[in-house]
Amino acid sequence: MERYYLTRSTASEGYALEVQEVDRHDPLLIPVLNELDLLTYSEGTFSRYTLGALLRYGRIFTITADGLVIGACHCLRSFDFPDEVVIFNMALRPGWRGHGLGTRFLQGVIDRLQARGTRRISLLVGAQNHRAIAVYRTKFGFQHVSTYPNEYNTGQEYYLMRLDLPDDGGSELPS
Ligand SMILES: CC(C)(COP(=O)(O)OP(=O)(O)OC[C@H]1O[C@@H](n2cnc3c(N)ncnc32)[C@H](O)[C@@H]1OP(=O)(O)O)[C@@H](O)C(=O)NCCC(=O)NCCS
Repeated sequence: MERYYLTRSTASEGYALEVQEVDRHDPLLIPVLNELDLLTYSEGTFSRYTLGALLRYGRIFTITADGLVIGACHCLRSFDFPDEVVIFNMALRPGWRGHGLGTRFLQGVIDRLQARGTRRISLLVGAQNHRAIAVYRTKFGFQHVSTYPNEYNTGQEYYLMRLDLPDDGGSELPS
């Protein structure tokens, strides 16, 4: 497996990175994902119950470094347009951010979603979250579609961003 070097230091041994699609319900992942969430946001996104539901009925991807979970991406399939997937949340453990890993992780997630026939990926991102927006827009070409001024009743503005994946001749998605 390819080893990934966080710095250019030749002293580093690098890490074995792997993006995984979690395709079975593993309750032991719940505290791991919960901790990652609480390290990221002052107000938790999940409870054990919503994580359990996402594991069983949504789709969670993880990125591991030498076998340890360092990031997670939580996906839902759109009820109205089943070819569309919503990335509900994506986060890396704090010390692993800013080294290009979010970009690699998202590429792995997009590749896997595309292989399943996903035609569009949507997400909401805080308007002030410049790093995440840079990843979505600059690295992958996500387009800003709308601005929601108070989506979560926090007074914080969110952008709806979308990426249309290449058409393989399947059904039309609405604009
Ligand atoms: C968002 C997140 C997953 C991105 O992963 P990451 O590994 O930090 O991102 P990468 O290192 O792959 O890429 C970041 C890019 O943004 C750029 N960037 C960083 N800060 C920036 C800023 N303030 N303005 C513009 N661009 C910025 C970097 O320069 C880099 O681009 P480059 O490789 O061309 O230099 C990660 O930072 C994270 O977990 N953040 C906390 C949770 C979060 O905000 N999730 C998104 C919720 S929608």
